Amino acid sequence: AAVDKGTYPFFMLKEIDEQAIVARNLIEHYFVNGLPQIDEKILSAIKQADRLYIVAAGTSYHAALIGRRFFEKWAGISTEAHIASEFAYDHPLISKKPFFVFISQSGETADSIQVLDFIKKEHYPSLTLANVMNSTLTREADFALPILAGPEIAVASTKAYMAQILTQVILAAALAGGHDQLQAELSRLAIDLQTVIDGQDKIKELADTYLVHADRAFYIGRAADADVTLEAALKLKEISYTLVEGFAAGELKHGTISLIEQNTPVIALISQSKTAGLTRSNLEETMARGAKAMTIVTKNLASSDDDIILPALNGEMEMFGPILEAVPIQLLAYYTSLGRKLDVDHPRNLAKSVTVQ
Ligand code: G6P
Repeated sequence: AAVDKGTYPFFMLKEIDEQAIVARNLIEHYFVNGLPQIDEKILSAIKQADRLYIVAAGTSYHAALIGRRFFEKWAGISTEAHIASEFAYDHPLISKKPFFVFISQSGETADSIQVLDFIKKEHYPSLTLANVMNSTLTREADFALPILAGPEIAVASTKAYMAQILTQVILAAALAGGHDQLQAELSRLAIDLQTVIDGQDKIKELADTYLVHADRAFYIGRAADADVTLEAALKLKEISYTLVEGFAAGELKHGTISLIEQNTPVIALISQSKTAGLTRSNLEETMARGAKAMTIVTKNLASSDDDIILPALNGEMEMFGPILEAVPIQLLAYYTSLGRKLDVDHPRNLAKSVTVQ
């Protein structure tokens, strides 16, 4: 049956709003008696590997960047994330016992299929995490797991990105042999996601004052937040047509700071305690040059001057920073596109699934 957008003006907003439900569905599907349950065959195939190669395109690649940290920190497996269109023709030295993970919303991205065809010829094992099951990437990989986001209609991916990250978190925990607090932590995170979604009036106001009239913008962050800047920039540019760059905050002084003029929006993502102070001082450097600075910060690292304050993530929970940050970066993009009266769900020149290389 066709999916209906109900009372929503655009599918994208509906799909952003569904993200807490997506998180709960994943918990319900993958946890049994408080522990993550993944097919033993998949776990043992991955455990035999000396390195994971996650291959994906677009937003799915950005989800891979986030997931990578969980495979390394929790499961102790060296993990690389790769852009499919690059890996297909210019791959790095492959380890002795590689395992390939494909991440895809559609399961039909030509660039990713190209890599799967190549690694199958080499007899390397593979797993696909996809939203559309029974797609080429799920059928042709050795294993497949669903990300359970439900149909995603808007061209700009939102809830599938969330589901891709969460599925990797659950898989990494299962590889680590459980993590008995995880179900409770993810349930808490689903509540926090809903809190951020419910606070979107403030985010709309910020989009209206900072972004709707800007011709360029920058996202900065460090560590896991640096990875999120890439998705934040992609979301904003693809649907609002603003020229946006996202990068590691420490790189500002090596070039991009020369683009800061009076009122250039610079948005800092701050959820990692080790680097919070450094990112803040980078942001201040841009303000000294006239930038209009905005902050998206978790409560434990925030002060009352911050703009978007996300629920607190203390200690180890900090690793979930990118998951909470996903919502405000999507909403800022959505409300900027809306404020410009653009067709949010159908940005020009873009397709939901790209089946050409
Ligand atoms: C297209 C879509 C993106 C998506 C990318 C990868 O560019 O517009 O939203 O991230 O393809 O697609 P996949 O289906 O493999 O996740």
